[in-house]
Amino acid sequence: MFHLGTTECARPVRVAVVGYGYWGPNLVRNVLQHADMRLVEVCELDESRAQACRQRHTGVRTTTRLESVLSNPDTDAVIVATPPRTHHAIVAAALRAGKHVLVEKPLATTSEQARELVQLALDAGLLLMPGHTFVYSPAVNLVADLIETGEIGDVHFVTSSRMNLGKYQHGGVLCDLAPHDLSILLRWIDSPIDQVSATGCSVFRADTPETAFMTLQFAGGPTANVQLSWLAPRKVRQIVVVGSRRMVVYDDTASDEPVRVYDRGMDVAEPVTFGEHQLTYRSGDVVIPWVEPTEPLALELADFCHCINTGDEPRSNAALGLAIVEALEAAERSLGADGAPVAVHGQWLGGPVAT
Ligand SMILES: NC(=O)c1ccc[n+]([C@@H]2O[C@H](COP(=O)([O-])OP(=O)(O)OC[C@H]3O[C@@H](n4cnc5c(N)ncnc54)[C@H](O)[C@@H]3O)[C@@H](O)[C@H]2O)c1
Repeated sequence: MFHLGTTECARPVRVAVVGYGYWGPNLVRNVLQHADMRLVEVCELDESRAQACRQRHTGVRTTTRLESVLSNPDTDAVIVATPPRTHHAIVAAALRAGKHVLVEKPLATTSEQARELVQLALDAGLLLMPGHTFVYSPAVNLVADLIETGEIGDVHFVTSSRMNLGKYQHGGVLCDLAPHDLSILLRWIDSPIDQVSATGCSVFRADTPETAFMTLQFAGGPTANVQLSWLAPRKVRQIVVVGSRRMVVYDDTASDEPVRVYDRGMDVAEPVTFGEHQLTYRSGDVVIPWVEPTEPLALELADFCHCINTGDEPRSNAALGLAIVEALEAAERSLGADGAPVAVHGQWLGGPVAT
């Protein structure tokens, strides 16, 4: 069962945050604000970043030594916000040291590594949660409800644009931005991804595409097209869902009104004479539903805390993290094969992808 409460934890979960670069400060701020969590320390290799943390949060202890964090008996859980290529080694070491882990997306950079981490967590009876923040977004979940209740009708297709200027990173734009779209799409569409094709564009370094175009085919379901880029003049975070009854535009940059539901589409009119099917256009109301203004990261941490204390399965669970790494791996392979479609060989481990 999914639960976002913040007050029923048996005792505060004592956490260490590893990595205080761009995203780590958001995690540290949220941990400090969370009633059911205690921040034990922050582990950061770069002394200037560690100093920035101490200056922003008086009294917070920092260290450069991951080993000392992992051997600290006062720490129940580790939150990992280091670059993706470091996730496997840090998460494996944390699980082997008996710590629950919340690791930023993606869970790992290969499906083999991701499976190994999932198995390690299962064997140790520890929680391994990938940080797919968007599955906690109230706007994303509102659209999920519209789809689940049939309000939108059959989903014909989805298009997504996720673009802005930077931040240029080692693993390429697919590894950086695609996990967000994959997590949102797997939350909305109740079937696994069968096949992925991807093409890209590398302007500055041949091995690092800053732009990618990805097409996903869901098993027995719709197609989704996703544009990702670090090379765009302004920030775009827009997803359009085209259904048989309604169309939805979700714009994550429109913080006060992120979701619009359009009663628009085409219908097949009854034939006037035999064989004369005609299309009629429908252009009805646009509804802007109210969306709870809660920070998704706060909800994600509440779920992490709740699941450590209860053994429940988090909404962003290891099966979702693995499915996303498998789709990413297929997309990278397709990118290297000029966009040839690549099958996604999912191994679901029996866990629900989204509940
Ligand atoms: N959920 C989201 O919306 C979201 C947004 C941005 C980034 N992220 C994820 O967060 C993670 C970090 O991304 P970022 O942009 O902050 O990267 P970053 O490079 O800005 O920061 C990473 C930090 O980790 C530190 N570090 C590296 N190895 C370390 C180690 N062994 N021990 C301690 N510190 C170490 C580095 O010194 C650096 O300060 C990535 O997995 C990224 O995908 C998630």
